[in-house]
Amino acid sequence: MRNLNHLTITEAVLARHAETADPRVIEIMTSLVRHLHDFAREVRLTEAEWTKGIEFLTRCGHITDDKRQEFILLSDVLGLSMLTVAMNNDKPAGCTEATVFGPFHVRGAPHYELGADISNGARGVPCLVRGTVRGIDGAPVPHARMDVWQSDEDGLYDVQHAELDHAQARGILHADAQGRYEFRSILAVPYAIPHDGPVGDLLKATGRHPWRPAHLHFMIEAPGHETLITHVFRSDDAYLDSDAVFGVRQSLIAEWAEQPDGTCLVEYDFVLNPASEPARGGS
Ligand code: BEZ
Ligand code: FE
Repeated sequence: MRNLNHLTITEAVLARHAETADPRVIEIMTSLVRHLHDFAREVRLTEAEWTKGIEFLTRCGHITDDKRQEFILLSDVLGLSMLTVAMNNDKPAGCTEATVFGPFHVRGAPHYELGADISNGARGVPCLVRGTVRGIDGAPVPHARMDVWQSDEDGLYDVQHAELDHAQARGILHADAQGRYEFRSILAVPYAIPHDGPVGDLLKATGRHPWRPAHLHFMIEAPGHETLITHVFRSDDAYLDSDAVFGVRQSLIAEWAEQPDGTCLVEYDFVLNPASEPARGGS
């Protein structure tokens, strides 16, 4: 295998994978190598350009730590996160649609009683959020576990405030026996995704803005149902049609209604997809 050229090198690389034990690894690596090579040939990638590409990826690695994940951000702005979500969450009509998880979920958020204020000191216009969790048959899903998180009025999540040592505007609640949930938080506002690093440079170089429309994140789990990871967006947001990470779904847009006392009310019902039957072993 000598004197490979820019065309024959693709099959040569694939041949090296012949001993791979896992057929899924072969499938993924074959497609990845083919597309990468085709990409380089199509744009006639120069050595200087590929050096720049490697420098970009290196910067993504250097800026990533336990609070910041530049590779998730990169996947998000390239639409790859949302493509993967869309492909893997093809639910029956009527189910609440899924959208991007994002990098700001934190495991082990504080637990709250229904009706509690999860803002825990985060600044923003007070908001009441309520609704019901149902199954596709319309029956309430009792006691669903709801993990909720959002940014504050400055468009920052608690984990982005270096000085903060406790959770704010995030929490875990359980819907009641009739599937009803209710909690207090703050008005969601549009915010810019972190753009002071390589992904921000990429957005700038391609003439894109870093803004996400205002939203509240939910991860909802209940026995017998698929876990739902989604947002509820604000209907009056200017960025609904240009979300930096392509996460908006029409069905996830709700009115955040201003109340006479200046607070805000969001009502949104979730419909969970039944979990698929576990595969049964033959007897
Ligand atoms: C978020 O909604 O938290 C988010 C999603 C993708 C990239 C950055 C932030
Ligand atoms: Fe978010």
